[in-house]
This record gives sequence, structure tokens and C-alpha cells, in this order.
Amino acid sequence: MGTMTIDGRKVEFTDEKNVLSIIRKAGINIPTLCYHSELSTFGACRLCTVEDDRGRTFASCSEEPRDGMVIYTNTAKIKKHRKLIVELLLAAHCRDCTTCVKSGECVLQELAHRLGVTNVRFENTREQWPLDFSSPSIVRDPNKCILCGNCVRACSELQGVGVLGFAHRGTNAIVIPAFGKDIASTECVNCGQCRVICPTGAITIRTNMDEAWNALGDPNVRVVAQIAPAVRVAVGDAFGLTKGRSVMGKLVNALHRMGFDEVYDTAFSADLTIMEETAEFLDRVKSGEKLPLLTSCCPAWVKFCRDQYPEYADNISTCRSPQGMLSAVIKEHFRDPEKSEGKKTVMVSFMPCTAKKMEAGLDENHTKGERDTDIVLTSQELIRMINNFGLDFASLEPEACDMPFGFGSGAGVIFGNSGGVTEAVLRRLSPDHTKEAMDEIADCGVRSDEYIREFSVPYNGIDVKVCVVSGLANARIVMDKVKSGEAEYHIIEVMACRRGCIMGGGQPTRAGDRTKAARTRGLYNADNTTIIKKSDENPLVLSLYEGLLKGKEHELLHINKHE
Ligand code: FES
Repeated sequence: MGTMTIDGRKVEFTDEKNVLSIIRKAGINIPTLCYHSELSTFGACRLCTVEDDRGRTFASCSEEPRDGMVIYTNTAKIKKHRKLIVELLLAAHCRDCTTCVKSGECVLQELAHRLGVTNVRFENTREQWPLDFSSPSIVRDPNKCILCGNCVRACSELQGVGVLGFAHRGTNAIVIPAFGKDIASTECVNCGQCRVICPTGAITIRTNMDEAWNALGDPNVRVVAQIAPAVRVAVGDAFGLTKGRSVMGKLVNALHRMGFDEVYDTAFSADLTIMEETAEFLDRVKSGEKLPLLTSCCPAWVKFCRDQYPEYADNISTCRSPQGMLSAVIKEHFRDPEKSEGKKTVMVSFMPCTAKKMEAGLDENHTKGERDTDIVLTSQELIRMINNFGLDFASLEPEACDMPFGFGSGAGVIFGNSGGVTEAVLRRLSPDHTKEAMDEIADCGVRSDEYIREFSVPYNGIDVKVCVVSGLANARIVMDKVKSGEAEYHIIEVMACRRGCIMGGGQPTRAGDRTKAARTRGLYNADNTTIIKKSDENPLVLSLYEGLLKGKEHELLHINKHE
């Protein structure tokens, strides 16, 4: 606790961990490239440098606050210093800004404008590296890397994977997977968190937009879309709408206008997931085998578990993810020649997640030898498609999803939040569907802000021990405890990205705490406005079990281990 003077004004501080935080609290937006509140402090870019009353300059992100400090944030010396840093970064950077996918969102580009860097006096003598297109989810362009190390720290500190690192020294320094491997040859889980945190275009989404446009332009193709819960609360922001507000109706309208023949809601198949996963869970509790049940909705987590904890691979639920289930069901629906009307069906899913691109290509998500989800597009790509088509998104009237797969219960919608799958399972297990019963479940600990939540719930005479975890580094902590016998659970829900799919690797970036909270709230609000709260009370789900799914539950809703 104490007081410091910043640009002549007294500012009190309490538990801020560095001078940078206090400067920001004082309303001064100091430029930064390598500082991120959720990562360790690296102190490499020096853009956050400030000056004290003795003329000493230091990086404010790496300096502990002290009572009585006198700081100047914008002296002539500091301004010159910052401008030179940006100029030097630009000198060693590919400057094809007009065609860079990150243009308009690039922090380096923004800083160049903001600091008035209009000319780069130095030549780019840096070695040029080939782009890495090996991943189905991300593209790495080392020529746009500014060596801030954010991706390196995110991969190891947030995700506990650590496939990226620094190699070489001085002007030859580069961020690259170990031994110069391409990213697909590593244990990369495709979560895309490196892309979320990259300030430039050095790591971007591997886009499939052109495939979608081609399908939409083909008269012999029926193009069917599904939209995941977390997408609806992340897109509106890009069009000036309230942060976190669900824009599902507008998205349905936008996709219909682009030419999608039918638009469905992934919350519907989230309900199917709950039906199947709850049944699987009860079976395992009865037999006492393969516990804890590990959830399977998140493909980055599934890959992480198979790579890092292969001895628990059989504990992973055999349920396909909601994306996989809905695509399999829709493809089966259109295998009926009367329904297909001679057209080929192309399934396009809109997901908050880059790992879904990887998941869709796995053999286990094929049915009858055919890929179920043909094209996976992220929220970020959806925003680009809306802009590309020229739609005035904010003014679009909401439209309802098509039927018969266009309605999900509230339980299906909250899947996008960490804890949502567990809450939906608990609703399913509850014999009651009153508001009081739903509120009681919401208050059991499943919605807390912690990245690791442990609680137990009584069910049929047993205390069901639950763990909800988000962020793979946190999943590693939990799995190590399970492995050593230190912790015991009946069910563990894991989302690879902290806070769940709302913060997935395919979502719009630069989301601060307000945006994160707004997205979470947006999904709970969407649940509040649904009349049906439980997956087992969704009439469309029940009639599907009576019709198309009869005898095909395993083929269409569980992973196919034999193809
Ligand atoms: Fe402080 Fe990079 S933000 S050194």
C-alpha cells in the first residue's frame, strides 16, 4: 500500500503487482507488447518504459511499486525511446500490412499509428523463414514474429503443453517448435491460445472460408450450418453491439442471406451429448469401471489427455462432441433420397474453437466412411464472412433457426461456459425441474470463478465427486493428483481454454476482463430466457430418439473407433 506520483498526480495503490498496473489505474494507457496479466512477466519489449524523478528509465511491467515513487510516462526521452523500439520492430518485420489477415487488429500496426512511426529507416536483414501450414488449426509466419514470447509462455504456462520455444540468438532469434519441427509434428493440441495472445499476424487461424464460399456457390450442394453456443455471445461486439449479448437470431438471418440452406443450433446436440454422457456416467458408476469419467466435448483436452495421460484414454467419454453429433445426425437425415433431393450435403460448423478444425478431420468423427463435419469456421472467420458479404449486421432482424434441429434447452446453451457441461448433467440427474431446483444446482459450486472447482452432489445415495477445470495447465494439476491417488472424482469436466469455449482460440481477440465476464453472463442470460431448462425435456431430442436415432445411437452419437 502506498502513494506514488504519476505525471504530477498522486495515485494510491494497494496490491497492484507492478508499476504498469498503477499507471493504467491512473488512466494512462502505456503501450505494451510482451506484458499479459495472466502470464509471467518477460520484460523484453521495453515499450512500457517510464522515467523517474532521477532520470532513471525502467520497464514498468517489471518494477515493483514503492511508496513515494515519482514517475513520468511521457517525457521527450521516453517518447523517442518508444518510437525507436517500434521502428526497429517494424524494420525486422514483414510489412505486407494491406494483405495481412491481422490488419486492423495488429498491436504493432496500432502502435506504429499511435506513436507516429511513419517511416522505417532501417533495412530488414533478418533471415526469411517459410510459413508453417502443417496444422489444421493455425498458421505460423515467423517473419511476422516480434519475439515478445507471449505464445511461448501461453503454451507452457496456461496450457501446460510447451511446444513453442526460442531458438538461436541475436538477430537470428526465432520462436519455433523444438528441433525445428513443424507444429503438426509436436504435441500441439490446436487450442489456438497462442494465436489469441499473439499481438501480430505471426500466428493466425488456418482459414476455410473459401471452401465455404465455394460450397455456397454450387447449385448441387445443400449447405447446412450449425452455430455453437459461445459464438453467439462473441460476435455482436465486432459490429458495435453490446458486449456478450446473444446475437443468435441475427446470425441465423446473416447465414440465410449468405445462402446457407438451413441453419441449426449446436445447443440441440449439446442436449444429445448430455443424454448420452449422463447414461454413460450412470453405467460407469454402476459398474465402478473407468472412473473418473472425463468429458469429451473439448477436442484440445481430448488430445492433451491422450498424449499426456494415455493410461486415462479409456476414461474419456466415448460421446462425440456436440459438433460431431449434430453433423452426424444431419448427414444421416439427408441420406434419405427424398430429403436430399439429389443434392450433396455440406456441413459447416461455426465454432469458438480452432481445435474443432482438427477434431472434424479425425477418423473417429466419420460415419459410413464419410466425414461428418466438412468445414469448420471460427467466430473470427464468421465475422469476416459477414463483412465480406457486406451485411449491415447490427440492423438485421433476428430469425429463428430451422427445424427439426434448431432448438436447444437452456442446459445446451450454457455448454459454452466452463462448468456448463457439468451443470447440464446435474440438471439431467435432477428429478425436479422447478426454478428452485435449477437455482440450487447453479449454486452448488459449479459456477464459481476458480479455474479448478471441486464439489460433491448427492445422487441416489452416493456423493458424486465432481471436478470442473479450465485451462490445460490446470488440467495437468488435477490429472497428476488423480494419478497419484491424492484426489478422487467421479467426473471431471475439462475445457482446454480458461473460462471455457467463450474464450476459445477462434474467438475475437483482445478480450479484457469485462468482455470475458460479459460473454459468460450472455450465455447464462440466454439460459434464463429459455422455457426448457433440461436436456431430457427438449421435445425435439426426445422425438429424434424415437425416430432417426432408433438403433443408431452408437453409430451417430459416439466416436467411431473402427473407421
Ligand atoms: Fe514491459 Fe514489454 S510490456 S517490457
